[in-house]
Amino acid sequence: MSGYADALGFSGAPFFKDVSDAELWLPPSKSRLVDDLCEALTERAQVLLVGEPGVGKTCVLRALRTRLPPEKVRLTYCHNATLGRRDFYRQLCTALGLTPSATAAAVFHAVTTHVQELGRDRLHPVFLLDEAHLLHQDTLDHLHILLNYEWDQRALLSLVLVGLPELKDRLELRRNRSLHSRIHVRFTIGPTTPEDTCDYLRARLGKVGCERVSPPGSSCTKITAITGHH
Ligand SMILES: Nc1ncnc2c1ncn2[C@@H]1O[C@H](COP(=O)(O)OP(=O)(O)O)[C@@H](O)[C@H]1O
Ligand SMILES: [Mg+2]
Repeated sequence: MSGYADALGFSGAPFFKDVSDAELWLPPSKSRLVDDLCEALTERAQVLLVGEPGVGKTCVLRALRTRLPPEKVRLTYCHNATLGRRDFYRQLCTALGLTPSATAAAVFHAVTTHVQELGRDRLHPVFLLDEAHLLHQDTLDHLHILLNYEWDQRALLSLVLVGLPELKDRLELRRNRSLHSRIHVRFTIGPTTPEDTCDYLRARLGKVGCERVSPPGSSCTKITAITGHH
């Protein structure tokens, strides 16, 4: 344990990065977002989620993972978006437990066949693409083709594109309109409010045994002094 945590009588370092799913902090604003994402994916929608670095996008995805019913939804998480089209599909193959084939066409065929089989089993595949602002244009150009398949008049898979705000700007470009027009559910995580910041500090400090973040009944005076929010 770190010296300062010891000196303050905490049971551990309060702000370690490796938070378990069970310990994720979900203030009402984030909890609503997870609900909305669940609803959108249950309805087989395509989703865009943007926000500045550190606002909690990836943590929201993790909270979502524990909320979606595994008998109805098959989640695949891809975080390496910096790949060209062929390598992107190869990574998708690996994530889906398929053997990556040699050619781009074979990989695309393997992915779409697999997705159709899942559809037959009534399992809805959801691809979470984190850091999607880094997607190569040739990969982006191709993504809407993955969404073209329809089975019983429903989309066969949901794509959740997650990234920095510039991803939204990029999708709004004329070149990307085929993809953009298919993404009907769009969320932005804004800057954390002072109330949420207080709540976050209280939650994380509480986990290591610090209960006196602010005296009972008072506002967040001490925390606002630390964070600079007023
Ligand atoms: N819901 C949460 N519960 C606990 N810690 C969180 C939560 N959201 C964010 N954090 C903390 O903030 C850091 C950045 O969050 P992250 O989800 O990685 O942001 P983003 O993906 O938007 O860049 C995380 O590593 C974690 O320490
Ligand atoms: Mg992230």
